[in-house]
Amino acid sequence: AADCFQRQALDGLHILITAGPTQENIDPVRYITNHSSGKMGFALAEAAAEAGARVTLVSGPVHLPTPDRVSRIDVVSARDMLAACEAAMPCDVLIAAAAVADYRPEVVAQHKLKKDPSSGEGMLLQMVRNPDILATIAGRDDRPFSVGFAAETENLLEYASRKLRDKNLDLIVANDVANPSIGFNSEENAITVIDRELQQTSFAQTSKGKIARQLVTLIAERLNKN
Ligand code: CTP
Ligand code: CA
Repeated sequence: AADCFQRQALDGLHILITAGPTQENIDPVRYITNHSSGKMGFALAEAAAEAGARVTLVSGPVHLPTPDRVSRIDVVSARDMLAACEAAMPCDVLIAAAAVADYRPEVVAQHKLKKDPSSGEGMLLQMVRNPDILATIAGRDDRPFSVGFAAETENLLEYASRKLRDKNLDLIVANDVANPSIGFNSEENAITVIDRELQQTSFAQTSKGKIARQLVTLIAERLNKN
C-alpha cells in the first residue's frame, strides 16, 4: 500500500502519444493505409501511465485494447489526428509513434468509383501532402518535449538525425524496419535513440513492452535535465 504514495518518474505530467496507421479515403469503400499495428504506441501509453503520467493516446484504426488509466481518442485520417492532437494540447511530452500517411487523395469521391468501361488502361490517383503532426506540434510556441520515430529501411542513423533536426525534436527513435523481426507488426523492437547532441543510446531487441519502459525512463531522465 505504501507504494501508492511513492513519487513516480512522470507524476503530474501530461503525455500525448500518437499511434497506429492513418487511413486516407479514396471513395466510400476504399482507402490508403500502411502496416502499422499500433503496438509500440500503445505500449508507450501503458508505460507512461504506469510511470504516473496523465496520458492522451490519439490512435488511428487499430485492433488493440486501451491500456488502464489512458484516455484514448480514435481518429481515421492524418488531418483528424492533427486536429485531435491540437485539441489535446498543452502537453509536457509528445511521443509521435504513429505511421502517418504522407499523402492523401486530393478528392474523396462521393460515390464508389467505377472502372472506365471504354478502355483497359490503368488509372492515376492524384495525391496531396498531409500535414506533419509532429513538426506542427514541435513548432508551436508552447512546444512540448518532442520525441519522434524514424522507421527506415536504409541509412537509418543518417535519416533519423536529419528528421531530428528538420522537425526540431528533442529525441528521435531510430527503427530498422528492414529487419522483419523488429519491423511493423512484430512483437519485438530494437531501437537507437538520438538526442540533439547526436549522442546515441541503444536498447537491444526485446518485447515492445520492455522497450517502451526503457524509452519512458530515458525520457523522464532527459526531462529532469532540462
Ligand atoms: N509524422 C507525423 N506526421 C506526418 C508524418 C510523420 O507526425 N505527416 C511523424 C511520425 O509519427 C514519426 C516522424 O514524424 O514520429 C517521422 O515519420 P517518418 O514517416 O519516418 O518521416 P517523414 O518525415 O514522413 O519522412 P519520410 O516518410 O519521407 O521518410
Ligand atoms: Ca512518412
